[in-house]
Amino acid sequence: MNKPETKSLWITGAGGLIGSHLARQGAWHSSKWTTHAWARADLDLTDHHAIRAAFKRTLPSLIIHCAAISKSAACDANPTLARQVNVESTRILCDIAGETPVWFLSTDLVFDGKAGAYAETAHVNPLTLYGRTKVDGERQVLAHPQNAVFRLSLNGGCSPTGDRGFNEEFRRSVESGTAMSLFVDEFRCPAAAAMTANVLWKLANLRDLPRGIFHLCGGERLSRFQIGKLLLQRWGKDDSILQSGSLRDYQGPPRSPDTSMTCGRLEALLGGSLPGLRAWLEENPAAPF
Ligand SMILES: NC(=O)c1ccc[n+]([C@@H]2O[C@H](COP(=O)([O-])OP(=O)(O)OC[C@H]3O[C@@H](n4cnc5c(N)ncnc54)[C@H](OP(=O)(O)O)[C@@H]3O)[C@@H](O)[C@H]2O)c1
Repeated sequence: MNKPETKSLWITGAGGLIGSHLARQGAWHSSKWTTHAWARADLDLTDHHAIRAAFKRTLPSLIIHCAAISKSAACDANPTLARQVNVESTRILCDIAGETPVWFLSTDLVFDGKAGAYAETAHVNPLTLYGRTKVDGERQVLAHPQNAVFRLSLNGGCSPTGDRGFNEEFRRSVESGTAMSLFVDEFRCPAAAAMTANVLWKLANLRDLPRGIFHLCGGERLSRFQIGKLLLQRWGKDDSILQSGSLRDYQGPPRSPDTSMTCGRLEALLGGSLPGLRAWLEENPAAPF
């Protein structure tokens, strides 16, 4: 049951990095929203009857859809499941939602990374199965005019399982003490999941909800190597463990070299730009990261 005068809001994927940040920040918005934060154990999105029943019971006014098979390697390991969750469940969720807005979290990996500084209107050309499922998921979502797609870059922070943020993966490698080589020529616009969640909540509280495609990422383009240095500095660790590598010497599945994005549509809505990861870390010295 909703509290009087609050609207119901769904967060799917609440057991993950971004969904858990959204769910935690939901407490700050409880005068307006009753948040239903669904982890996979509470609502498996491949169970379409369960989605329909939960929808009828809680009648959400907005759905922030974070659930996904979110890692490239996991998609490659189980392509059927990746399509089922990232595309098919997204389609069904939108159908069940009807006129209720669904916000789909997508990725900068919809781009091939040959150009960089991608605007919302740029041509997509994913190089990986993960990227392709997200492009197809976007299409399902955008078939309904009230919906929105938010393309994110790398997100970091503390996840409930301790292994979802890029910082969490990196910390484990650092703690193992083995030297690491990070690309100096692969670029993203990383962000804190706390910032991403904060922006989404701001948008949820606007009178006119955003529709269409938005880019939501940190305001500074950084190489993998620069990101590694930044984290070591944050943790007060020596950076001699870090070696510079290059995509030119890399052999393996395809990688997008520069998927930096511009956030013009979002900046126009918010009336300002988003901080880069370096600035966000400086502004939030005590935030767990
Ligand atoms: N984090 C990033 O750097 C990043 C970057 C770009 C885009 N994104 C996108 O942002 C969204 C959120 O990412 P995230 O980092 O929070 O991912 P995440 O930590 O992997 O969380 C995704 C959640 O979805 C859940 N899930 C998977 N299959 C499900 C199913 N059948 N039913 C219900 N829940 C299911 C997972 O459950 P389990 O915990 O049980 O696996 C997980 O908790 C994703 O769409 C991702 O593609 C993330």
